[in-house]
Amino acid sequence: MAKLLNMQGICKSFFGVEVLHNVDFSVDKGEVMALCGENGAGKSTLMKILAGIYIQDAGDVVFKGSIIPKNATPLEMHHLGLSMIHQELNLLNELTIAQNIFLRREPRTPAGFINFNKMNEDAAALLAKLGEKIDPRRKVRELKIAQKQMVEIAKAISFNVELLVMDEPTSVLTGKETTILFDLIGNLASQDIAVVYISHRLKEISDVCQKVTVLRDGYFVATKNVNEVTVKDIATLMVGREITESAVTDFTGDPDAVMLEVKNVTDHMLQDVGFKVRRGEILGFSGLVGAGRTELMEVIFGIRKPRTGQVFINGKPVAVRSAIDAIKSNLGFVTEDRKETGLVLCRDINENTNYVFWQKNKGMFKSRKVYTANTKKMIERLNIRCNSPAQNVSNLSGGNQQKVALAKWLVSGAKVLVMDEPTRGVDVGARQEIYRIIKELAAEGVAIVIVSSDLPEILTICERVIVMHEGRITGMLQSSELTESKVMYYATNV
Ligand SMILES: Nc1ncnc2c1ncn2[C@@H]1O[C@H](COP(=O)(O)OP(=O)(O)OP(=O)(O)O)[C@@H](O)[C@H]1O
Ligand SMILES: [Mg+2]
Repeated sequence: MAKLLNMQGICKSFFGVEVLHNVDFSVDKGEVMALCGENGAGKSTLMKILAGIYIQDAGDVVFKGSIIPKNATPLEMHHLGLSMIHQELNLLNELTIAQNIFLRREPRTPAGFINFNKMNEDAAALLAKLGEKIDPRRKVRELKIAQKQMVEIAKAISFNVELLVMDEPTSVLTGKETTILFDLIGNLASQDIAVVYISHRLKEISDVCQKVTVLRDGYFVATKNVNEVTVKDIATLMVGREITESAVTDFTGDPDAVMLEVKNVTDHMLQDVGFKVRRGEILGFSGLVGAGRTELMEVIFGIRKPRTGQVFINGKPVAVRSAIDAIKSNLGFVTEDRKETGLVLCRDINENTNYVFWQKNKGMFKSRKVYTANTKKMIERLNIRCNSPAQNVSNLSGGNQQKVALAKWLVSGAKVLVMDEPTRGVDVGARQEIYRIIKELAAEGVAIVIVSSDLPEILTICERVIVMHEGRITGMLQSSELTESKVMYYATNV
């Protein structure tokens, strides 16, 4: 049977550096194919060549039996039946959900005006397919990142597709939405629609894909049947060495050395929420999207003003009004949205990594060497794939951008570090290194709070877990009693 997609001998360079070397990649009709590889391996670049966003330097793309001209545009690829959900969200904040979904192909009335009623109804129907009840007339700006992701998915399936590329669709989704997405993928496959699925959550690959293709450093490594390999095998193919996972134990530090305490926080979203984190403790927050975890963290950093409630650091009440206040109070906050709040995209790796460190040490003389050493250490330890520390972060692959957003706080010297989705889109190898650094910081006495929608992550790194549901704390578990089903029980609060 002829392949639906056959990419052969694809090469691509950026600024003279080759990032794809003679890569072959093919997909059958109705097949769900995983595409794996470390951060910077070339997954997004390969798919952007397919989508008509980048032009390959060499090699052919054969889609539905025809060679695609190199200069085919994204729109032409759409018409041929190819749709792509991008790793970085591409929505226009000031437009409504429906306007984003039907941008430049809005339904019209016979007189030629935009038929808003039909557009909103169609958008609502698409969202309903994804289990989302959001009003399609709402502006995208008001949405949480997971909801934005669902809008991107709705947009991608609103086209007549034969091949759907999903670049990290679940990196910001929790269990419930991920299950809905997997049902949708099963549905598409049963209609003979093929899917290319990119994810660093390797377990998902065995749940949803039939085959997996692995890239390493821009080279094709292997294509395997998913039922013939384990998650560990995939990780080994990606990294080229075996990955050892760290194990977590219960907190053994001083239970009375409370570094951060949040008391009685109530606003329209949160209901009488309070918790404590001790010196050197790693505390996790789990829950479904909309449980209020991010909102709670925003209260600590003064981004949200609650009706009641108080934040204490080392037993003293603090009122953080700005990011600078937070930094001065030795607080750190890795935000969930690296593009909006985590990075200065037009600046280089060195400046981004040292941004907080520099703010803190303003007025004190620090030689350039200290800053360069910070950056060098992070590039090495987190394996940040870049040409040099002077590379703009906007040119890094998604996972490598996340590593820089994280590095900024890892070198900041914060005593209380809150991390919202810290390893979003980060590959397995770097993830283990990040967990090691988090543990080292905890051992040095930093109190750490991790909000994560990735349950295996919570189980791997957190000594204690608080579970939230609809703005309330519904459960607390020590690592020794932690299981996925217990967390889900409290998260759904049934
Ligand atoms: N527009 C660009 N300009 C310069 N370099 C780029 C550009 N896009 C990608 N690169 C480089 O190409 C390489 C491959 O990046 P790509 O985004 O394809 O990786 P990826 O496999 O998708 O990684 P991730 O898992 O982090 O998303 C990286 O080294 C990256 O820095
Ligand atoms: Mg990518």
